[in-house]
Amino acid sequence: MWPNSTICVSNQVLQWMDFEVVSLQYQTLLRRLHGESLWVSPFFFRELLNSNDDVISFVISENQLVAMAQASRVKVLSAFQAVVNNVAVREGFDGKGFGRQAMTALESMIKFRWSCWMTGIVIFFTNSPLKNNAGFYKSLGYKARGEMSEKPTIVWVKHIF
Ligand SMILES: CC(C)(COP(=O)(O)OP(=O)(O)OC[C@H]1O[C@@H](n2cnc3c(N)ncnc32)[C@H](O)[C@@H]1OP(=O)(O)O)[C@@H](O)C(=O)NCCC(=O)NCCS
Repeated sequence: MWPNSTICVSNQVLQWMDFEVVSLQYQTLLRRLHGESLWVSPFFFRELLNSNDDVISFVISENQLVAMAQASRVKVLSAFQAVVNNVAVREGFDGKGFGRQAMTALESMIKFRWSCWMTGIVIFFTNSPLKNNAGFYKSLGYKARGEMSEKPTIVWVKHIF
């Protein structure tokens, strides 16, 4: 059963909460993932809310943001794919179904905005096993391309300064 909440996407959130409040609570959620020093400028956040290349799903309950998930559109060869990141539930609100609500809303919006007629869209993300949350993504139907999968895949990274 879905928990009692309001779900909205990107700048729709401003119909429910003031920009300053959303901005602060968005950062509270992100700090759970990226540490206490994380800061997002108001300019960047406003751009993000209005961007056609990004989608953020917000779950509001008890007058506060309790979960979010974010995706960005990237062009790969001749098609679009969606990279998911910043999936977070507010501390103290885990295990109530809010994470699933955020991801389900995000997927619907990705499909609505970016999938090509007939072909659909690939959604992907990276995830550290140290976070111990693989069960969450499995329960949403995602399959890891780990060592034991049919198409094992390694992410290669290089920082360029
Ligand atoms: C991981 C996280 C997003 C899950 O959100 P949540 O609201 O607690 O999850 P839900 O209550 O919606 O659970 C949905 C399903 O996932 C499962 N699940 C949730 N967290 C899990 C975990 N850590 N390990 C295994 N399964 C998990 C639930 O049992 C449930 O399964 P079911 O529907 O088949 O019974 C949340 O706990 C969180 O923000 N954690 C810290 C940050 C983080 O790890 N974010 C992901 C970044 S990659």
